[in-house]
Amino acid sequence: MANETLGNCCSTNQKLIAWVQEMAQLCQPATVYWCDGSDEENKRLCDEMVTHGTFTRLNDQLRPGSFLARSHPSDVARVEDRTYICSQNKEDAGPTNNWADPVEMKKTLKGLFAGCMKGRTLYVIPFSMGPLDSPIAKIGIELTDSPYVVVNMRIMTRMGKNVIQKLGANGSFIPCMHSIGAPLQPGQADVPWPCEPDPKKKYIVHFPEDGAIWSYGSGYGGNALLGKKCLALRIASVLAQREGWMAEHMLILALTSPQGKKHYVAAAFPSACGKTNLAMMKPSLPGWSVRCLGDDIAWIRLGSDGRLYAMNPEYGFFGVAPGTSEKSNPYAMASITKNSIFTNVVHTQDGNVWWEDMGVPAPAKGIDWEGKDWTPDCGRKGAHPNARFTAPASQCPVIDPDWEKPEGVPISAFLFGGRRPSTIPLVNESFSWEHGVFMGSATGSETTAAALGQAGVLRRDPFAMLPFCGYNMADYFSHWLSMASRTDRSKLPKIFFVNWFRKSADGKWLWPGYGENSRVLKWICERVEGSGKAVKTPIGYVPTTDALDMSNLNISQADLTELLAIDLEGWKKEVDSVAESYAKFGGRIPEALNKELAALRDRLK
Ligand code: OXD
Ligand code: MN
Repeated sequence: MANETLGNCCSTNQKLIAWVQEMAQLCQPATVYWCDGSDEENKRLCDEMVTHGTFTRLNDQLRPGSFLARSHPSDVARVEDRTYICSQNKEDAGPTNNWADPVEMKKTLKGLFAGCMKGRTLYVIPFSMGPLDSPIAKIGIELTDSPYVVVNMRIMTRMGKNVIQKLGANGSFIPCMHSIGAPLQPGQADVPWPCEPDPKKKYIVHFPEDGAIWSYGSGYGGNALLGKKCLALRIASVLAQREGWMAEHMLILALTSPQGKKHYVAAAFPSACGKTNLAMMKPSLPGWSVRCLGDDIAWIRLGSDGRLYAMNPEYGFFGVAPGTSEKSNPYAMASITKNSIFTNVVHTQDGNVWWEDMGVPAPAKGIDWEGKDWTPDCGRKGAHPNARFTAPASQCPVIDPDWEKPEGVPISAFLFGGRRPSTIPLVNESFSWEHGVFMGSATGSETTAAALGQAGVLRRDPFAMLPFCGYNMADYFSHWLSMASRTDRSKLPKIFFVNWFRKSADGKWLWPGYGENSRVLKWICERVEGSGKAVKTPIGYVPTTDALDMSNLNISQADLTELLAIDLEGWKKEVDSVAESYAKFGGRIPEALNKELAALRDRLK
C-alpha cells in the first residue's frame, strides 16, 4: 500500500476512491498523488523531470515553457502487435485485432502490475474527452507512474480538478490503468526514460465489455496517453456502436469560401499521412480560409436536425515532428513555439529543437534523439522518424472559434485517403452512402513510422481505423451503413476519396500537396453545393480536367490528366486486393459492401 497520499483528492465518488485504493494496493507505489491540473502542479512536475534528466528545458527565449524528452530506443511508437482487444468472444474482436481471453489476460496483467510502481508515485489523472459541458464528453481516470504522461495528458485532454467536480459522487468513468513497468528497488538509481525494454512484455489491453484499459511497459504516445487511441478510439468505437454514434480517426476542418460560405469537413487518413497538415492548412487559393477543429479524432452524432455533428474530444496535438515545416504546415509551426513538449528530436546547441525536413538548415552540431553527438554528415538521422510534438490546440493560430462547441459542428463531407503512389486518382466522389462506406472500407496506405513494423508497403487500413477499432471491423462497416437508416439520406455528408501521393512512372510526385490541396477542397465544396463539374467513371465521380481551380499553379496538363486518370488494370488489381481483405472476415462483411465490390468489378469490365 502507498505510504502517503498527496494532492487534492476532493472526490466524493466512492467507486473512484475504492478503485484507486485497490490499484495502489496492487501496484504498491511509494506515494499516491491526485492531480489537480494546475499551472503550479505542472511547473513542479516539469522541474522534477528536469532534475531527474527526463526533461531538458529548452531555451526560454526561443521556446518558452517547452521541454525536450528522449525515450528509450525500444519505446518509440505504438506497439500494434502488443495491443489487444479482450472481448469475451474472439469473433467480436474480429480478424484484424489481437485477441486474448479476458480472464487469462486479467491474470497476466495482475501479475505484471503487482508491485510494478514500487519506489514511484502513482498519479491519479482525472480527464475529460470532449469539453466538460458537452453532453457527449466522456470522463476517464488514468492511473500512471509516469510524470511525463501527466504533463502530456494535461496538454492532450481537459484534465484536473474540474473533472472530479463534474464526476461528482455518482458519475461513471472509464478506468485507464498505466504503468511504465519499471519499479525501483530501495537505493536503485532511476534512468531518464524508465520502461519495460522487452517488447514481448509490453501490453496495451482493452476490455470492451468492462470499458477498461490496461497498459504496461511503454511510456510513449498512444501506448501511454490513454485518453487518445485507447479511450477515444478503441473503447469509444465500442460505445459508439452500442449507443448509435461514431468514434472516428478523423481530422475536422472548416473551409470558408471567398463568399463566406462555410463547410465543415472530416477526413480519415491512416497515421502519418498528413492529417495534421490538412487540418490546419494554409490554402493557396486567394480568399479561401481553413480553420482547424481537430487533427486526429472525431466523435460524431446525429443532431436533432438529422445532420451528423462532429466534435474533437482532444485538447492538443500530438503531431509527427519530422517533415513539419513552414512549407508543410506553417500553423503547426506557430502552434509549437511555446508550452510544448518535444520527444525524440535533435537538441541544438542554442537550446532549441530540430528535425529532418524542418525547412531550416541543420545545426552544425547537436544531440540526437538517442542522446548522442550528432552532425549533419554523421550518416544517422537526428530525429526519430516518429518523433513528436505535444502542443495545446488553443495555440493554433487558425483554431476554429467553434472548436469547443459542446454539440460539435455539422459535417458536409467525409474524406478518406492514404499514401497511394499509383492507381488512385487525386479525388473522386462516391455514388451513394453505401458506395462511400465501401470506399472507407477499401482505404489503404503505404506504411510509415507511426507504428513499429516495416515501412513502405501497402496496408489495407479501413477507415484508417485498422489499429483503432475496438470490435469486429465487419460490424463496424455495418454500423457505418446503418447511419443511412437513422436519418434522411439527403442530410448525410457526401463521401470522397483523395490521394495527394500519386507518382508518375518515373517516381515523381504528380501533385504538390499542402496548401494546394485547397483546390481539391474547393471542388468538394462545389459538389456539396450541387455545382462542380464531374465525369461519371467506373470508380465514382471524378472532376473533369477543367473542374479544378488551377489558377496560378504550375502543373502540366499531362500531369493533371494523369492525376485524374482511371487506370483500369490497376483498379482490377485493387478490386482483387479489397476482395482479399474482405475474405479475412469470413461471411461477416455486410451484403451491401459485397454488392458494391461486385458492382465495381462489373463497371471495370
Ligand atoms: C497518431 C497515430 O499518433 O495515428 O495519431 O499514430
Ligand atoms: Mn492518429
